[in-house]
Formats: sequence, structure tokens, C-alpha cells
Amino acid sequence: MSLVYRSARADDLARAEALVVASINDLTVRHGFGPMATASPPNFQLFSLKDDPEGLWVAEDDGNILGFAWSWVCGDVWFLAQLFVDPAQQGRGIGNALLERTMEHARKSRAAHKALITFTFNRVSQGLYIRHGLFPKMPIYFFNAARERVAKELPETSLRAVMIDKSVATIAKLIEIDSIAIGTSREKHHRYLLDDPASTGFLLYIGSDCIGYGYIAANGHVGPVAVMRAEMLRDAFATALKLAADRPTEKISAFLPGTCDGALSLAVNQGMRISFPMLLMASPGYGDWTQYLPRNPGFM
Ligand SMILES: CC(C)(COP(=O)(O)OP(=O)(O)OC[C@H]1O[C@@H](n2cnc3c(N)ncnc32)[C@H](O)[C@@H]1OP(=O)(O)O)[C@@H](O)C(=O)NCCC(=O)NCCS
Repeated sequence: MSLVYRSARADDLARAEALVVASINDLTVRHGFGPMATASPPNFQLFSLKDDPEGLWVAEDDGNILGFAWSWVCGDVWFLAQLFVDPAQQGRGIGNALLERTMEHARKSRAAHKALITFTFNRVSQGLYIRHGLFPKMPIYFFNAARERVAKELPETSLRAVMIDKSVATIAKLIEIDSIAIGTSREKHHRYLLDDPASTGFLLYIGSDCIGYGYIAANGHVGPVAVMRAEMLRDAFATALKLAADRPTEKISAFLPGTCDGALSLAVNQGMRISFPMLLMASPGYGDWTQYLPRNPGFM
């Protein structure tokens, strides 16, 4: 049978997720980091497929999925959430062919900015992205630690956290914060997170002024976090760590951009350790995140 590239369907997504997990772990084990990924239900993939099917592609041969690409668009930002090829099939042009199809999604959507998060230690992905006009922008570190260690002597802040509701006023606030922090509205993605029983969102206030938001997951993962001004990010992160540490999770984790000095110093002071070095790559002019902590390399 011959290799075909086609739009992904809902019933491909669980198999695509298995391929992604195998491909990530092949890469991270090969580079001495040990396995990084475990399979989870492809809920966000399914959400994106329903929202905008043009961003999801598979490479298929004789009924077997050999590669998967998935991009989403919010406003004028296009984001490559995943690009993965079966380890036994890498280096024969499949990744490039899938990337061309998702780049077409960016063109059709008239996205002004393009971005993705990849592994700092993957030379192949970085070379491929540079070929397509996406350049290394800044490191993003995946930090984690035991909950008890993070909880010890967490600094107090003057921020007040209030559970997010789905009111019109709250959604308008989230849109405003994202427009300032990352240059686009992510309204649909907030609606996705707010419907996710494993995520808890909160707005952050100084007095009566709402200055940011954050989310924590049931497994102790922090993010996304966004604030109106860069100097507030460290305290927003401290507040999110406190909320995460108050829950009965084993570990606490977060993705921290290399530009967010205060949050990085706080993570290290609380005993958090860098377990995976990642990299933001973007089209020229995008990606100076000093007011934003991403959730993960797929959600941004
Ligand atoms: C990254 C990945 C998707 C690429 O797919 P692939 O099918 O192996 O890649 P292709 O064969 O289409 O393209 C490889 C290209 O990478 C580039 N490349 C490879 N090694 C490179 C290096 N050391 N330096 C610079 N560029 C390099 C070249 O442009 C090469 O194309 P060429 O051989 O025609 O010159 C795939 O290798 C993979 O799944 N890797 C593991 C997971 C991963 O890191 N995914 C990206 C997550 S964002």
C-alpha cells in the first residue's frame, strides 16, 4: 500500500495519541532523560477537531498511522500543538509533508504569528522548523518537585484568588488579560478548560482589580497563568503554587519560560527541578512571553 496524507477523523485520535506517546518516549529515552509521556484521552485534540478540522492530519499506510500533525488557531496566532512520526519511520520525509499541510492551515487562517514548543535536545525538529520559517525564541523549562517540598515556606503574596465562573464579565476579563499577555483572545480554550473537571481556574485580584488568571490541574500541574503586567507574574505563580500545594497531589509541576526571571527563581527556591528543557520556536516578532506561563506544549 502507499502512503497517504489525509485529514484526521475523530476515530484516529486515540491511535494518534498512542503514536505520540511512543514517539516522545523514544526521543526522551534516547537522549538520557527517561520516558516523559503517558497516554491520556485525546480530549483537547477532539475539541480542536470539532472546532477547526483543517489543523489535524495523519500520514497513513495500509491502515497504520505513521505520523500525526495538529495545529490550532486563535485570532491571528497559529500554534503547532503536535507533530510526531513513528520512530521506525522517521527521516523519510513524513514529518516535512505533515508540517506543510499544517502550515497551509496557518496560511488559510491568515495567521500573522506562528509558534510551537519543541524539545531543546531534538536537532531534527528544530532544523525542520527553521526550514519553515520558525526560529528558536527562548527556552521553556518543565519543572517539578514533591508537593511537600514546594509547600515549605512558600512566600505570601497580596494576591487574592477567586474561582473562575463562566459569566459574561469573567470571559470578557479573560479575553482582555490574554490580549495583553500573549496578543490574542483564547476564549474558546478557556471554555474548554472550564468544562474540564480535572482543571480549576481562578482570577487573581489586587484589591478590587483583576490582574490575571491561573489554572491548576488535579495532578498538581500549574498553568496556564497570565497577568496584565510582567512584574506580577512571580506573585501569580506563587499563588498558583499555594493553591496546588493545598491539594492532596503527590507532585507539583509547571512550564516556565526563560524570560520569566521571578517565576524561575521562585521555582528553584522551592526545590523544583528542571526535568525537561523545551524551546519556544516562532515566526519572527512573536513569543516574548514575560506575562504568561504555558500549560503544556500542546495547549500553549
Ligand atoms: C521531528 C519529526 C516530527 C520530524 O519528522 P521526520 O519524518 O523524521 O522528518 P523528515 O524526514 O520529514 O525531515 C527531516 C528534516 O529535518 C532536518 N534535519 C534533520 N536533522 C537535522 C540536523 N541535525 N540539523 C538541522 N536540520 C536537520 C532536515 O531538514 C531534514 O530534512 P532532509 O533530510 O530532507 O534534509 C520526527 O523526527 C519526530 O517525531 N521526532 C520525535 C518527536 C518530536 O520531537 N516531535 C516534534 C515535537 S514539536
